[in-house]
Amino acid sequence: MNILILGSGGREHALAWAVKQNPKCDKLIVAPGNAGIAAIADCASVDILDGDAVAVFASENAIDLVIIGPEAPLAAGVSDRLRAAGLSVFGPSAAAAELEASKTFTKEICDAVGAPTAAWARFTDAASAHDYIQAKGTPIVVKADGLAAGKGVIVAMEDDTAHAAIDDMFSGHFGAAGASVVIEDFMTGEEASFFILVDGTTLHPIGTAQDHKRAFDGDKGPNTGGMGAYSPAPCLTPKIAQDVLDQIIQPTMDEMARRGTPYQGVLFAGLMIEDGKARLVEYNCRFGDPEAQVLMMRLGAQVLDLIQACAEGRLDSVAANWADDHAVSVVMAARGYPGDYVKGSEIRGLDTLPESSSAIVFHAGTTEVQGQITATGGRVLGVTARGASLAEAQGKAYEMIDQIDWPEGFCRRDIGWRAL
Ligand code: GLY
Repeated sequence: MNILILGSGGREHALAWAVKQNPKCDKLIVAPGNAGIAAIADCASVDILDGDAVAVFASENAIDLVIIGPEAPLAAGVSDRLRAAGLSVFGPSAAAAELEASKTFTKEICDAVGAPTAAWARFTDAASAHDYIQAKGTPIVVKADGLAAGKGVIVAMEDDTAHAAIDDMFSGHFGAAGASVVIEDFMTGEEASFFILVDGTTLHPIGTAQDHKRAFDGDKGPNTGGMGAYSPAPCLTPKIAQDVLDQIIQPTMDEMARRGTPYQGVLFAGLMIEDGKARLVEYNCRFGDPEAQVLMMRLGAQVLDLIQACAEGRLDSVAANWADDHAVSVVMAARGYPGDYVKGSEIRGLDTLPESSSAIVFHAGTTEVQGQITATGGRVLGVTARGASLAEAQGKAYEMIDQIDWPEGFCRRDIGWRAL
C-alpha cells in the first residue's frame, strides 16, 4: 500500500513512524516532512494547501491512502478535492472541519444538542465585546473565531488582558480569523484530550492524553502549542469517557450527519474535567501535537489498520489493542519560544540515542544542513518514551534529553507532574 502523509511536524513524524511499522505499508511519502521524517520516508515538496496539486501528486505516485495531519489543509478543502479525485483520504471535509475552523459553529452545535460547555457570546465589533467583558468581569476567555495557528485563545485573568485581547483581535492582527470573536466563561478543572476515530457512522475511541500548554515548569509562563504530553490521562476515567461519548461526541456526530456533513477522521475533544464531570473546551479535527506522539507510541503499527478502516467507513470491523502502558513526550523548543527565537542552531547527540519501539526522538522543526541536524522551528523535538508506568516513561524521556547537546534549546522538566 502506498501512503502519503501531509504535514511537517512532530505529529506527522509520529504518524509516519507508526504507519511505517505496519507490513501493509509499501511506500511512504510525507509532504513536506522534516529531517527526522526524511530518515524513514521520502519527503516531497508539494503545496499541501493546494488540493489540485496534492491530487496530481497522489495520482502520479500511485498513492492508495492520504493521511492529512494538520488542520489548515482540512479547512482549505483538500480532503474534498482528493475524494472527488477518487482517493481514499483520512480527514474530514471542509464542512465537517468547521468544528475546528469556527468556534461559533461548535458552540452553536453544542447548544443545539445540549452538550455541556461554557456559556458564550459572539461579537463582530469591539465596542460590544468590551461592554460584555465589563459586565461579566474576569477571569474570562477570549477566542478568535477562526483558525489562528494556536494563538487565538486568550485566557484573561484580569480585565486589562481581556480588553487588550479584544483590541488585538479586532485590529486585524488575526486576519479573517479575528473578524468575529467568541467570549466564553472561564472554566475551572483539569484539562484532558480525548481522541475518537469517526467514519461518518461509527465512533472508535483510541486514547486519552494530557498536554502541558505553558512554556515553563509548574505551568508558568506564556501559552504554547504544547510543551509535552502523556497518555493515558488518568483524570479522564472510563466512566467520564463514556459520559463524554454519550453526552458530547455522539450527539455532535449525529447532528453533523443530520446536517448532511458527516464527520470522517480523528476528532480531538479538548475537555475540562471537574467533580467527575466533563465539559467541552473545543474540538480539533486532527491529532494533537504533542499528543499524537504519545498516542502513536502506544498504538504502534495498528494505527494504519485503524486509519484505513476509518477512511473506508468500516470502523465497526476493527478493534484497537491496548497494552497497559504509559507514554511521555517532552518537547524541546528553541530558546525564546513561543516568542522570537533563533533559527539555525545545531543539535548534536541525536545519532547516539537509542531508537526502539519504546524510545524515539520525533522531529518537528528540523532540517538537515550538510549532514547536521539544525533547528528551524519553535518546537523542535519531541523526546518520547514508553514504560510500564508513567514514572518509568518519564525517566526514560529525560535520560534521552540529557544526552542531547543543544544549548540553544530548552524543555520543561516536569512533564507528567499532575498524574505523578
Ligand atoms: N497540543 C494541542 C493541540 O494540538 O492543539
